[in-house]
Amino acid sequence: MAKRTIVTMPGDGIGKAVLDETLRVLDAAGFEADYKEGDIGWEFWKKEGNPLPQRTLDLIAEHKIALFGAITSKPKDEAFDELDDELKDKGLIYSSPIVGLRQHFNLEICARPCKSYIGNPLNFVKRGLGDDIIEPQVDVVIFRQNTEGLYGGVEWSNPNERVYETLMTHPKFRQNFGHVPKEEISVSTRIFSKEKTENILRAAFGHAKKYNYKSVTLCEKPNVIRETSGMMYKKALEIQKTEFPDISLWNTNIDAQMMWLTKNPADYGIIVAGNMFGDIVSDGFAGLIGGLGFACSAQWSKDGVAVFEPTHGSAPKYADYETSIVNPMAMIESACMMLDFIEEVNIAKKIRNAVAEVIKEGKVRTYDMLKMRGQPDVIEKGAASTKEMADAVIAKF
Ligand code: NAI
Ligand code: MG
Repeated sequence: MAKRTIVTMPGDGIGKAVLDETLRVLDAAGFEADYKEGDIGWEFWKKEGNPLPQRTLDLIAEHKIALFGAITSKPKDEAFDELDDELKDKGLIYSSPIVGLRQHFNLEICARPCKSYIGNPLNFVKRGLGDDIIEPQVDVVIFRQNTEGLYGGVEWSNPNERVYETLMTHPKFRQNFGHVPKEEISVSTRIFSKEKTENILRAAFGHAKKYNYKSVTLCEKPNVIRETSGMMYKKALEIQKTEFPDISLWNTNIDAQMMWLTKNPADYGIIVAGNMFGDIVSDGFAGLIGGLGFACSAQWSKDGVAVFEPTHGSAPKYADYETSIVNPMAMIESACMMLDFIEEVNIAKKIRNAVAEVIKEGKVRTYDMLKMRGQPDVIEKGAASTKEMADAVIAKF
């Protein structure tokens, strides 16, 4: 069989360190691929005025599967200041290349698994009755609609006349905002389409079925946000009833869910939500299983373009350390999601087993796992470097 080509996008800061180590792990686990590097991130914004060059989009369009490290984003003014002088008069405005990727390839399904590894000192624990300590085993996958809703980008400050007049036709707008000067109005919309809502729900239920999760929990707020959350709940009921009768559908409100999260995290299986609430609830669950060093993610389109990335960012303060200290697990786990996606499930299993063994053994731990403050001297104090962590995983194969 011809070797696969995987697009690699290290991006900025620690993105390169975690991606390099992950490629070594993939290689040692027996995954054979050609890698083609795609340019993305701050460097290309500064030099070319575009953090997501067309050649990178072309590369992904051709090969479909990409591993992505992390990028740096900065506020508008700072972004402008750092732009190459020759580009400063071109009217360029910085926008996030991640959001750009999602929109360009319609990466509408985002999955973020949060599973606790036995022996991870960062696992959530709580006190039981008396003095006993309980460590709930979390095994949740959050399915987040990745392109619509509050992050859809349809927003205005001081909206134009047509928009304003249209808003004024809504009785609630007239009642609550009719007295506010137009110039003082800011509007961010939360638009859900039926098709994409159904797509994320089916992806969530499909995953539950494939991996034997007993429930799907819709985490929105249908009692208040009636049109969008309400529509999503109605669709969830329909899809559950007609297509997935063996999987139960639970319905929680995002605010209550953030409380239940620490009360009974082991009760949840698959969670599904719109863009913003999915972002919130996935960060919440990630905190229970070790935080940013462990939070992995995948995003894909209906036609098979998929990008796998850790949830964390470029952590600039650690980027220039001579020896990288950050935890590569989130990137390694994201690569395992890629392997599942392209049906290299045995290699994924091999890597996950090795990771589980390393964590259970507890001999090799990065600074975050030792609850240290991230500083160059953590290595002297016994923390593993990014490379040593990858080596430990490789040694288990
Ligand atoms: P961040 O995720 O880069 O770092 C926050 C803190 O989390 C770090 O200081 C570090 O203590 C810890 N951390 C992150 N990754 C870790 C790892 N692998 N191992 C151990 N500890 C880790 O978020 P921050 O500092 O808010 O943003 C830095 C830059 O990254 C910004 O420019 C931001 O826009 C960008 N960003 C990019 C994302 C992406 O590429 N998907 C996501 C989030 C932020
Ligand atoms: Mg987030």
